[in-house]
Order: sequence, then structure tokens, then C-alpha cells
Amino acid sequence: MQINSFEAYQQAYKHSVENPEEFWAGIADNFLWKKKWDKVLSWNFSEPNVKWFEGAKLNITENCLDRHLAEHGDTPAIIWEPNDPEKDPITLTYKILHVQVCRFANVLKKNGVKKGDRICIYMPMVPELAVAVLACARIGAVHSVIFGGFSAQSIADRINDAKCKLVITADGSFRGNKQIQLKEVIDDALIGCPTVEKVIVLTNTRTPVSMIKGRDIWWEDEVKLVDANCPAEEMDAEDMLFILYTSGSTGKPKGVVHTVGGYMVYAGYTFTNVFNYQPDEVFFCTADIGWITGHSYIVYGPLSQGATTLMFEGIPTYPDASRMWQIVEKHKVNILYTAPTAIRSLMSFGTEPIQGHDLSSLRVLGSVGEPINEEAWHWYNEEIGKDNCPIVDTWWQTENGGIMISPIAFVTPTKPSYATLPLPGIQPVLVDEAGNEIEGNGVSGNLCIKFPWPGILRTTYGDHERCKLTYFSTYKDMYFTGDGCMRDQDGYYKITGRVDDVINVSGHRIGTAEVENAINMHSGVVESAVVGFPHDVKGQGIYAFVIFGNSQHDEDLNKRDILQTVTRVIGAIAKPDKILFVSGLPKTRSGKIMRRILRKIAEGETSNLGDTSTLLDPAVVEEIVEGAAKLR
Ligand code: WTA
Repeated sequence: MQINSFEAYQQAYKHSVENPEEFWAGIADNFLWKKKWDKVLSWNFSEPNVKWFEGAKLNITENCLDRHLAEHGDTPAIIWEPNDPEKDPITLTYKILHVQVCRFANVLKKNGVKKGDRICIYMPMVPELAVAVLACARIGAVHSVIFGGFSAQSIADRINDAKCKLVITADGSFRGNKQIQLKEVIDDALIGCPTVEKVIVLTNTRTPVSMIKGRDIWWEDEVKLVDANCPAEEMDAEDMLFILYTSGSTGKPKGVVHTVGGYMVYAGYTFTNVFNYQPDEVFFCTADIGWITGHSYIVYGPLSQGATTLMFEGIPTYPDASRMWQIVEKHKVNILYTAPTAIRSLMSFGTEPIQGHDLSSLRVLGSVGEPINEEAWHWYNEEIGKDNCPIVDTWWQTENGGIMISPIAFVTPTKPSYATLPLPGIQPVLVDEAGNEIEGNGVSGNLCIKFPWPGILRTTYGDHERCKLTYFSTYKDMYFTGDGCMRDQDGYYKITGRVDDVINVSGHRIGTAEVENAINMHSGVVESAVVGFPHDVKGQGIYAFVIFGNSQHDEDLNKRDILQTVTRVIGAIAKPDKILFVSGLPKTRSGKIMRRILRKIAEGETSNLGDTSTLLDPAVVEEIVEGAAKLR
């Protein structure tokens, strides 16, 4: 199923559009099914209702583990690089990973977990995280992995939304020279989570933790009590595989639901093609498994293809800015998949940290999560790829399951800062505000997809209406991505960024409404408005305009209190980079905040603020402009 020439790509693409069912059936044939499907696809985007490989039976872990055992049992499945470079890496072969997954799956069963139960996973980037994820899939439990940077409140919201029965966590995690007390955060979260019956705790940092009798149990004790024989649960292709929460325009994060069959096919197909993965190569995706990139390109994509996936516990700048290049050299990494924010951050240290590191194993470089600016693209290409590795700028979203628009390595001619062309099966369209398709080249519009692909989200957990409203109602019979996009004269796609109220901070999606709700929880805050602004390293930063009602006005302390409040409510990842206290916000006569104006002010583009005549109080704008100028 690997595409090896541009002609082959064009043919595959044509086939996928003309006869999608035949095309995807052909791809799905490369996977292991207990029973094949009765029907490849049935769909409508109006409800929406999308089903792939209906009637088929499978277990994704048999595809990720069992089927590789006979011939590749001793191939490393996971290589783990610890946060501390002095500590030894760990290699789990397919055989070993299989045993660990089966064993831990039995632990889950022993603790009452059944097919369909939701399990919350809040863990550090250690191999046991991958084991926990796969163990859920082994027995048909639905995992909901929560990124380690989220607060107790955010975790509680997610656990309650999915009614999770069990939580898997660790005592703590190492991130650079910091330690995060994961179990403590979970303890705080669980005060408000009546559905959770058990907590399994992995020993990692050896920090003291509270262990509650009848609820909390140790990972290490439990695995000793079970055997390593765990038959894979037979799953329907459309059974739920996982929930992953992501931010949108409205306040509450939503649980994106992916199902077993289509997701597996799409993650595996895109992995092998986009990166041109070759047997025995080492694939290094620097994402955290708490995000979709980690789900699809650390765990499911690579393992479904029998690949070796490298998992890194730490951060690119610890102990210093040469860490990534040390890892590439040490593990002879062949394919490196990272985010523009990491590239820009490392770029700021110059080329000195790269020197003396042998990067000659690298063959393909990937980028994901946000638009990559030309400067970063060239630096990545020249300094890391030595002008010798194709860069695949991969555009996709949590809701997509896998890469959608991207070059295929060694196949698609690249262009700096362009995601280039849609993968086979993906039918992008650009639409104007009125929902009309904009045809031809050299045009810009809102990016929609007009035909389903196997990895598309099926619903948002517990609230199908929300799925319909968010993705399938803006434009009739199309999936709306929320991104703006340009299609150039060659038909190449360039993603220009979100067109909704979502900001992308260091490749992390954050809803402005979510941050506003958190800021507004501070007792002194009357009202706030949050927008994104261009940030040299993070891509976008968070700019908060805040009306503060408290007479005790120690600006600096109040700002720090607000940051602390946001950290409590959402997590440190949502902390505003800038806070400006204002006496009013630019509102229309009907009371709507004109974010367009705030965005311009945050960008520092105050010379042309556009039409302000509809504002209730135009004087407010002047005050904000002045304040913002001082803050800069
Ligand atoms: C943005 C991450 C430009 C985009 C896999 C999208 C990108 C959001 C790219 C999804 C890219 C992702 N170029 N923008 N190559 N990749 N984005 O759900 O705005 O965390 O809508 O999924 O990131 O973020 P998410």
C-alpha cells in the first residue's frame, strides 16, 4: 500500500475519488480482520452518520502486536528515551510489548473493567502509557487519555463527561528539571468524580502519594497477580476505540470519538505513506500521547505497521538545546516528526547545539500542529535535513484521526510552508462565507472536506447534536475544519490558520471562550475577552483584555492571581502571555464583543482598525490602543 511515485499518487487519488469503496477496501485488505466487512461505507453528513467497514470484526491490538510476533517478534516496537540522559533507555520488542499489554489488560479485567467502559489515562510519557492504551483496546475498553498539563478541574470535567470507571496514573512525572505530582492532581480531581471506582498507580518518580484503601492500587502489585494470556476482544469495526477531548469555539472541550476499524486503517495507511517508513527504521514523533498526534503516530500508526517507535519522556531543551540531536544520534533516528514551535525554539539557540552530532541517519522530516513559517522550514531543511531529507508538512486535526493534506515523502515535490496536496481519499474544498464552493486555483477560503474518509470522527461523546452543530452545520453536506486555506496556482494547499475562536499555542488548541471562562472565575474580574496574537516561538500567544472590578488594584499581583486562576481551572498551558486591564471592551450596540478589533490591537496593527462606527462606545478603543502600546 506504499505509494512510490507521483504518478502512483495521482492514480491512487483518482481511484479514491472515483471509487472510494473499492479503494479503501483494497487498503483495508492489508490489515488483520477476524471477519471482513459486509459494506465498506455508508454515510450522510446531515445527521451526520458515517460507518466504515460495517459488519467487520477485529481487534486493533492484534494488528499492532499479535500479527507481528511470528516474523518480527524481536523487532523493537518501542524504544523509550528517559527524561534524564544519564538513565538507560528501554527497548520493548513486539514480543515483550505483547506480554505487557496482555498482562495489564488482565489487570483491568480483574478490576472489573468490561468492554465499552471508559478509562481515564493520566500518565507521564513512559512505556507503560502505551501499554495502558493498548491494554484498554485489547479488552474493548474506551480510553480517554488526558495530557499531563491539565489541571484537576479539567480532568474532573473530562472524567465526568465520559463517566469513567477507572483511572490509570502514576505518582509523578519528570519534565526537564521539574517534577509534576500526577497522583496529587488526580486526588484533587476525584473529589468531584462519583463514577470512578479504582485508580491504578504506576511508580515512576517515587514521590510520596496518598493511597486510599479500596480505591487506589499499585500497578506493580497488580501485574504480579495475573497471567499474560489475554485473548483479544472481538470488536465491531464501528465500536468505540477512544475519546480524546479537544477545544472548540465554545466553552466546554468536547470528546472526539474514534472507532476501531476506520481509525486503524487510516492511521496505518497515512503513517506508512506520508513518512515512507521502511522496515527496521526508527520513527521518532516528539508529541505527547495525550494529543492526537501521539495516539496516531506514536502508538497506533507505527505499531500497526510493525515499525519501531521512539518515545521520549522529556523536553527538547533539557538538559540543553542539543537534546533532540543527541537522541537522533544515539538511536539512529530515521524519521523525525515534530512541531514548528519546537523547531523555532531550537532555532533560537543557533546551530551550535547541532554541531558534533551525527544526524546522517535522518531520511525524512515531518512537521505538524500549526503552520510552519518559511524561516523555520528552511532551517529545518538545511540545518537538520542537510538539504537531503524531504519535509512533510502534515495538516490534520484531532477530528480527522490521521494526516489529511501533506506531501508524501520522496513522491510529492514540496514547497516551503505548504501542506501541498490531499492524500488519497481526501476531497478538500474551499468555500466562501456564504458556503459556495470556490473553484479553480489561486484562491482562498474556508477549508471543508466533502467526502468521508475512514478516520473521520463519528460523534462527540454524549452529545451528537454538538458534533453536528460544530462540524456539519456551517456548510451543508460538508465537514468544516475551522481552518482558513489558500490554494495556489499549482493547486497546492497552504493552511493559513484558524478562522474560528480557537487559538493554536505551541501547537496546542485552546478555545478563547475556555480561557475567558477561567479568567472570569477570578473574584475581581468583571469581564474579559481573549484573542490570539503572533508569537515568535509559540506561533500564537494568548492576549487577555480584562475588566477588573476590585478596588484593591495592585496590577502586578492581580495579574499573577489571574494566571494562577487559569492554571487552576484549565492548566498551565492556557495561561495568557499578556494581560491588559481595561475599563471597557469594544461592544456593538447589541452587546457583542468585536473581537476583530481586539485581534488587530493584539497584533499591533492599530493604524487600520476598520469600521468602529457600530460600537456602543468608540472611546474605549482609544484607551485600549494606548494601553496595549504600553504593554508591548
Ligand atoms: C492546526 C493536530 C497548519 C490547524 C494534529 C488545525 C496545522 C489544528 C497543521 C488541529 C499544519 C495542524 N499546518 N496548521 N501542518 N497541522 N494545524 O486537533 O489549525 O491538535 O485545525 O491536531 O492545528 O489541531 P489538533
